[in-house]
Amino acid sequence: MKTASNLLLKLSRRLFEDSEQQERFVEVLTHPQPFHPCILWCQEKPEVSPFRVEKPSLWQPQFIDRLSWGEKPGQHPLHEKGYFYCLDFSSVFAACTLLTIPSSAKVVFDMCAAPGGKSIFAWKVLHPDLLISNEVIGKRLGMLISNLKRCYIKPSVVVGRDSSILAEMMPLSSDLVLVDAPCTGQSLLAKGDKAPGCFHPTAINKSANRQKRIIANSAKIVAPQGYLAYMTCTYSPEENEQVCEWLLERFPQFKAVEISCLREYQSHLTTVPCYRMFPQDGLGAGAFTMLLKNTEEGEVKEVDLNVLSKIWVNMNHQE
Ligand SMILES: C[S@@+](CC[C@H](N)C(=O)[O-])C[C@H]1O[C@@H](n2cnc3c(N)ncnc32)[C@H](O)[C@@H]1O
Repeated sequence: MKTASNLLLKLSRRLFEDSEQQERFVEVLTHPQPFHPCILWCQEKPEVSPFRVEKPSLWQPQFIDRLSWGEKPGQHPLHEKGYFYCLDFSSVFAACTLLTIPSSAKVVFDMCAAPGGKSIFAWKVLHPDLLISNEVIGKRLGMLISNLKRCYIKPSVVVGRDSSILAEMMPLSSDLVLVDAPCTGQSLLAKGDKAPGCFHPTAINKSANRQKRIIANSAKIVAPQGYLAYMTCTYSPEENEQVCEWLLERFPQFKAVEISCLREYQSHLTTVPCYRMFPQDGLGAGAFTMLLKNTEEGEVKEVDLNVLSKIWVNMNHQE
């Protein structure tokens, strides 16, 4: 019988050769422990931090702080004033691939944007001329817009369209396309949240097929010499390494970029450079990330603001 615990055991054996690692992985998913809170400074960081902070990881950017136990950043007055955004440390890990992108990126497109953490991270790192954040689920648009507004993320627009429509509307236009893909959410268990059916092969298959569709449409939006960043917060190879291998077969102009600061996190489940954080390391619930570069030469197609203005969401009318 395919019980959740059997499926979890099976997954642990696929992910780790070492039995001790397998056991630790299963243990943190079945007996979750909290992770330190974490913030991204959107505005200039105060000289004296209002929080007690943990020693930074080697790859952690200067505008991120991992806070000590007991700190409640969401309740601090600077939060409401938009000084910082609260996010998981796993999200920081996943977005760290963006630190290798040259800062000349003009247009950044976030395909799966709500509630906005990766959009804000990309804006902070790249200072684009235009950030386009897309969220296809209508009821998630409000929190995306309110976070972008609260943190003064400008110039930015929000849209809410299927990836296939966007691929047709703005091909070869964006210097960076971010795909923080919807997934089975297995890492939610490491945070003590629920993710029913997340280890079931049918759910994993369905999710992987959706991810392939989204990443293929997203690849079409990447400008020549631009970048495609793919990340998830789940562990199944079908939703991670296998999606990347699938994309690279179909879009051979894309090449995976090595991220030297994440070298020790390189996945051994593929020869393509991709990176994983696991919950048993104690930093975050887990993430998968990779960065691809479109090696094609050619002209970048400018985003037609007239066309874009027909679909963007009025940021003043949604909350
Ligand atoms: C992992 S979350 C994104 C988190 C966000 N990037 C952040 O850092 O705050 C995935 C998002 O993809 C959206 N999504 C679901 N189905 C989608 C689809 N078919 N195409 C694009 N996005 C989709 C979900 O609504 C969800 O907001």
